[in-house]
Amino acid sequence: MNKPIGGDRRDFIKLCSSAGVALACGGAAALAAPQAPAQAFPRALLVDTQGEPLRPEALPSGQAQIFFYPYRSTPCFLLDLGEALPGGAELQTETGVPYRWQGGVGPNRSVVAFSAICAHKLTHPSPMVSFIGYREQPVGFVNRAQQVERRGHVIQCCSEHSLYDPKRGAAVISGPAPQPLAAIELAFVDGAFHATGVYGGDLFARYFEQFGDRLQLEYAGDGYAEPAGEQCVVQPMEGYTRNLIRCG
Ligand code: FES
Repeated sequence: MNKPIGGDRRDFIKLCSSAGVALACGGAAALAAPQAPAQAFPRALLVDTQGEPLRPEALPSGQAQIFFYPYRSTPCFLLDLGEALPGGAELQTETGVPYRWQGGVGPNRSVVAFSAICAHKLTHPSPMVSFIGYREQPVGFVNRAQQVERRGHVIQCCSEHSLYDPKRGAAVISGPAPQPLAAIELAFVDGAFHATGVYGGDLFARYFEQFGDRLQLEYAGDGYAEPAGEQCVVQPMEGYTRNLIRCG
């Protein structure tokens, strides 16, 4: 379901092949590779459990909220990380497609959203249990230098211990995940949040293929693969999942 970027890349290479600009492009390519844009999905207003537009002040700092976008059954984390996040992190999907993370939105530029489907083996929150979640308090992990480190403000998957950095577009900090969590593109307009697209490596096709049977029961039919609709209800993780599993 990823949007192909072959056209952008081809145009860039063609431009760089022409006389007079090759040298300049060579330098530019090293500095800034073409970035894949967000994959557009129908815009959805984020609302609270009363159906009112979600207000920034209603978002608790340090706690994950959950909503479903861009499909009715694809879970996402919504987080107020409590500090301005200018964005700009340059990331890559597993297949090498580069993209640039937009950063936080809202009055303090501190609100971010990511797909809650782990990029390793698709662990995700369900009504019964969640092995993946946001940890404000420090958790232990083995870093790239094989040293034990502790770090808070991370998204952690307890299945095989992938750790993501929500302040850098959910880049992988540790563990077997081959790419960041897909980022949800947000807009903050007239005091309300909207989800408008997805960027990075989304795993929705694999998710439907792998969990379709269970989702069919949960959603009483094929509605699980329908678009999320014009509004997405945001609720605390505790209100959605009965057992929040922690580790590390
Ligand atoms: S499914 Fe998340 S680390 Fe394996």
